[in-house]
Amino acid sequence: MQILPIASGKGGVGKSLIATNLSIALAQADKQVVIADLDLGGSNIHLMLGQSGIRQGIGVFLTSSKLKFEHIVLDTGYKNLRFIPGDAEVPGVANLKSSQKKRLIHNLMNLDADYLIIDLGAGTHFNIIDFFLTSGKGIMVTEPTPTANLNAYLFLKNVIFRVMGTCFLRGTKAHDYIAGLNRKGSSLQRVYVPNLLEYIAQNDPESYAAFQDKIEIFHPMLILNMLEDPKDSIKADKLRRSCKEYLNVDMAHLGILYMDNLQDIALNSRLPLIVYKPKSVLSQAIYRIADKILQNETEGMSPLDFESLDDSYETAKIEAEVDFEMKLRYLEELLHCGALSPGDLIETIKIQQFEIAQLRKENTLLKSKLVKAVKAGFDE
Ligand SMILES: Nc1ncnc2c1ncn2[C@@H]1O[C@H](COP(=O)(O)OP(=O)(O)O)[C@@H](O)[C@H]1O
Ligand SMILES: [Mg+2]
Repeated sequence: MQILPIASGKGGVGKSLIATNLSIALAQADKQVVIADLDLGGSNIHLMLGQSGIRQGIGVFLTSSKLKFEHIVLDTGYKNLRFIPGDAEVPGVANLKSSQKKRLIHNLMNLDADYLIIDLGAGTHFNIIDFFLTSGKGIMVTEPTPTANLNAYLFLKNVIFRVMGTCFLRGTKAHDYIAGLNRKGSSLQRVYVPNLLEYIAQNDPESYAAFQDKIEIFHPMLILNMLEDPKDSIKADKLRRSCKEYLNVDMAHLGILYMDNLQDIALNSRLPLIVYKPKSVLSQAIYRIADKILQNETEGMSPLDFESLDDSYETAKIEAEVDFEMKLRYLEELLHCGALSPGDLIETIKIQQFEIAQLRKENTLLKSKLVKAVKAGFDE
């Protein structure tokens, strides 16, 4: 079974949307898929899948000894796709105890399926990181904003330190060194990972080898969501560079997804987008990502080998251009077939112009306030 945990650091970047629609795409490709909602405390996969009346999920499983794990693996009505609901409103399950986490991971690992997709919560809590580390091929989702990229970067940095924590055993030089950094408070934040690893390699080769063993199979993959413009795709390069340079982690690019208002309509109609509008640009982009994952599997290689990493970033840029064209063409088609009249278009533009005018006014107001404040400062 291939495990694909989906993480981001920052919330609201599209993890759950991707987890849901990717699961369906893989299930449609005749794979046995299980999607697990491990955003404990903020579960919403049931909504994205359009499932109602769910009474028990991971929350109930963890707090009752009677419930068997197989009882929370539910059919979805979609062929080949099963679903493990999240907390089902059991309070407190976000703070899993270590024994609960082990029990959960053990049960997840023993599922009988081709793919297990794990939707995770936001943040860098070590429980989330441990779920991410159930696989070497986790997916990092980000969007083209500096905060989202920073959070993705910090998430991976925390992953690296978590792996160090499990490899550098008590009594070793490596362990003492990290503990020393920890005691100094903020110095762990500032530490330059490649230098740290070099120090460990020279002073404690055994711990270093243990770390290398674990990190060797760690090949996270990237999805850049919520593009508005093809130019946004370069944001993936920046994140990749930082992770490579500062964390020794290189990510393959799985692909880009544009922002699409259809998603809201799909949500309201309680249908996953890929079912609601399979031909839309966003759905097609998700199928494209599913294809890359499937291709990886048949070639039995990690994405690092199947396509050079540089190529995966170039491909994503081309896809960003192609999808943008498709979106424009889609708009033109709506115009031609009468679904969207020139009147609708004019109306939309008018509304936007009105909004822009409002923003300008606010901006002028703020500027004048600022000028007054600065003047007042001088007068004093
Ligand atoms: N590409 C997209 N286009 C339009 N809406 C999107 C897109 N990706 C995510 N969304 C919407 O943004 C919101 C946050 O997405 P979600 O998947 O819940 O994020 P996360 O799980 O990372 O917190 C949801 O309302 C979702 O429908
Ligand atoms: Mg979510």
